[in-house]
Amino acid sequence: MNVLFLAPNYPPEMQDFTRGLAEVGARVFAIGDGHPGGLSPKVQRALAGYRSAKLFDREATIAAARSFGVRFDRIECLWEPFVELAADLREVFDVPGMSLDVARGFRDKELMKQRVEAAGLRVPHHARAHTADEIRVAAERIGYPVIVKPIAGAGSADTYRVNSREELEVVLGKTRHVREVSVEEFVDGDEFTFDTVCIDGRPAFYNVAWYRPRPLIARSNEWVSPQVVVLRNPDQPELRGGLKLGLGVLKALKMGTGFTHMEWYRKANGEVVFGEIGARSAGGHLVDQMNYSSEIDLFREWARAVCWKSFEAKVTRDYNVAIIFKRAQGQGKIRHLEGLDRYMQKYGEHVATEQLFRPGQSRRDWKQTLLSDGFVVVRHPDLAFTLHMADEFGASVQMYAS
Ligand SMILES: Nc1ncnc2c1ncn2[C@@H]1O[C@H](COP(=O)(O)OP(=O)(O)OP(=O)(O)O)[C@@H](O)[C@H]1O
Ligand SMILES: [Mg+2]
Repeated sequence: MNVLFLAPNYPPEMQDFTRGLAEVGARVFAIGDGHPGGLSPKVQRALAGYRSAKLFDREATIAAARSFGVRFDRIECLWEPFVELAADLREVFDVPGMSLDVARGFRDKELMKQRVEAAGLRVPHHARAHTADEIRVAAERIGYPVIVKPIAGAGSADTYRVNSREELEVVLGKTRHVREVSVEEFVDGDEFTFDTVCIDGRPAFYNVAWYRPRPLIARSNEWVSPQVVVLRNPDQPELRGGLKLGLGVLKALKMGTGFTHMEWYRKANGEVVFGEIGARSAGGHLVDQMNYSSEIDLFREWARAVCWKSFEAKVTRDYNVAIIFKRAQGQGKIRHLEGLDRYMQKYGEHVATEQLFRPGQSRRDWKQTLLSDGFVVVRHPDLAFTLHMADEFGASVQMYAS
């Protein structure tokens, strides 16, 4: 089993997917942007071959793939910007897996919504727009408030809620560099994920996580300590609509084998609405959280699914798992942490991992990355207690920078 894996080293969780591929018996060939000397030891151990090439350069990547001189059985990528490239390469090298057309449905947010809508599923009212005038017309037709966001976006970048014509004029100024945008009905409600590892379109594994607060709010307010909570019981009646929607979306978009990460909304009246989906794993350590929930290794199980169409982990769902991201107050370097010792004394036994920055480390740009200045992961069988621990972390642990 020869697998070509794009972007094996970055983002960091790719290192574990690379490891997973080797662990299930694949010979792993990889292409990434980085110098071979910069690969983590974990990746180096897992690889049968590596080429450095700019993944934005299709021809260079194809040439690098050819230079291995082997016949690939799989070509995979789990990093959003290059999921389409992997599909493209599969067609170039005649390798089984998701076609380019199907991959586009998971990447182009308008095409995605058209396909989901055509299957009779509820999506936000939407339009594709290129020029300021097209955006104005779309916003009038859909009705305020609307969301304006890039067609191929990630990390809530350049995503705006627009409440009125006047606000739209301001946002038009800010999004001028985005070539193509989606204009959407603003959907008010709770926001969840639906994550799967699929084999031939059917989830061998599925998970629901809850965003607290909604990502756009977390991304716009620095004082917030954003939480993502893996729910121990995704089969509870309150989530049934989302699960049903998720399965419908996988079918509508012709999912094959691999990871998916979907986002969906639940309105106050119970109506569920599709948000977006990627044919890739979630970022922000959500895969780790799912692993902590059942003590499994989805990095390896994804690899097993992709290589051998099998999934062996036992999904026991023992815990709710909350990750809480922290943002320091002040700019520059972290100077001190407050409340962490007390928190660890109180809840240490429920802390799965604590990776806050320490004094001397430079703050991350919280607008650029959800990871912010580090995070803690807590878990407990009881949801209310898990939320309590998560909220208390947000309120009682502070970091200061200067
Ligand atoms: N139609 C909508 N109604 C309400 N909120 C929305 C809508 N579209 C986007 N948002 C908000 O903006 C956030 C980012 O939008 P979206 O998920 O489409 O973009 P993204 O950049 O791919 O996000 P990410 O990579 O952070 O998941 C959503 O999580 C949600 O909070
Ligand atoms: Mg999103």
